[in-house]
Amino acid sequence: MNLRGPQLKVRGDFQVSATVHRPAGQTASLYLYGEVPIVYDEWRQNRRGLRVAVSERELSLTVWDGRSAAPVADRTASVTSPATVTVTFERHGGDLALSAGDTRVAVPDPGIFDAGSVMFGVDAVPGAPDWTLAALEATARDGGVAVRDTPMTGQSTQPSDSLRGLAEATGRRLPIGAAMAAEPLVSDDGYRALAATQFSMLTTENALKPQFVHPGPDTYDFAEGDLLVDFAAANDMKVHAHTLVFGEANPRWMQQVALADRERVMTEHVRTVVGHYRGRVAEWDVVNEPLSPDDDGPDGGPGLREHLWQEAMGESYIDKAFTAAHAVDPEAKLYLNEFGAEADGPRWDALYALVVRLKGRGVPIDGVGFQSHIHEAGDHIDPAVLRSHIAALAELGLSARISEIDVYGESPRVQATQFAGVLGTCLSEPTCTSFSIWGITDRYGSTAEHDSYPLETGDELPWDQRLHPKPAVAALRDTLRTARR
Ligand code: XIL
Repeated sequence: MNLRGPQLKVRGDFQVSATVHRPAGQTASLYLYGEVPIVYDEWRQNRRGLRVAVSERELSLTVWDGRSAAPVADRTASVTSPATVTVTFERHGGDLALSAGDTRVAVPDPGIFDAGSVMFGVDAVPGAPDWTLAALEATARDGGVAVRDTPMTGQSTQPSDSLRGLAEATGRRLPIGAAMAAEPLVSDDGYRALAATQFSMLTTENALKPQFVHPGPDTYDFAEGDLLVDFAAANDMKVHAHTLVFGEANPRWMQQVALADRERVMTEHVRTVVGHYRGRVAEWDVVNEPLSPDDDGPDGGPGLREHLWQEAMGESYIDKAFTAAHAVDPEAKLYLNEFGAEADGPRWDALYALVVRLKGRGVPIDGVGFQSHIHEAGDHIDPAVLRSHIAALAELGLSARISEIDVYGESPRVQATQFAGVLGTCLSEPTCTSFSIWGITDRYGSTAEHDSYPLETGDELPWDQRLHPKPAVAALRDTLRTARR
């Protein structure tokens, strides 16, 4: 998807003509999205949109209405198309139609562009010769079309009761963050307004995970990460980048690297990605979730999580990752991020013991992120216990942060109490450097049932699906107001 490209605003009927140069054997496919697809790491949910495709012998129009993974219409027609060909898509008289020369296919329009915008994307086959989009032309048939640049500009005014505004007014000036994604930022004005006005810190939700940023051994793709970082800069937000080294979200090629080459691959990855963002990213999750999810360690608590890096280097992969990141950007604050360590018990003990060892070996670690995912009753966070963990880290010279809080499956009241309790804890501990939520609105939350159509959204975030504030927002505001006094 051309996230940064221009969008069309459409009213009434319109047409879009695309001229493509197509190497022999290639199919050129162009997407017109009425709604941006929702892309998380392991899945993609197509919403309203369509694909127009042309090959040597076939013209095809495929339409998704957002109610199913399968298209609602898929029409093809035989054509003999030259290497350079112009195909014309139109919305006309209640139909969607595609034509090339005298050949035309049409289907009834289920309302693909009713929201009034068109965004563009293309498909290509990795490794195959590129096809080229030589021209793209939009014409109004009735109503109108207008081109609008990707809406990425800074939002000038913040309401005085915004979370970031209230946090600014406390002596602490604690950054209030949220994990954010590129697709809703460019396609959803309400989401973008909340992002820019409520938060003073941006965590890259998925865009800098290895499988997005490093899709091939010699291929880095910084497009989405750059978009997020630029959005943050335009809105005076700090960037917390997530994540360099992780057992999950690694591209297949990386998972298949021979044992002997893994250290080189990992450190090159760290150097390249940190180097690309030097000076623009304030902090990194250098290692994410180093502990095993199970109590499988020698002392009955969790051992190290087994994965490609741990398998090749043992615990020293952590030292090496931090050392490589620090060498490239000595200014950036470097974090180790973990879940389930907010409460007392074997997970906290194992995490504490790990950071003691890291500090003992002189590893350049600045702090620990407490993910604070509250997804079942047993996850409820006791502010006093969390406070004692933050204080224990401070004794070691380490900062802490609340990195990914969300509260799932609770009444709005209980949710509000959990959010506010953890924020209050962070505000009260001088070494707690930021409070960051794992998303903004349930419209795009990470607990959505992604293989159901339409998307079955979760309920873990402070703003609901309609972008209305839930009681959690008022509770967070009250907590910030109290801290001010
Ligand atoms: C989640 C993302 O939010 C989803 O979009 C993705 O499909 C799976 O990963 N802990 C982490 C994050 O550190 O990387 C995870 O993010 C949530 C749990």
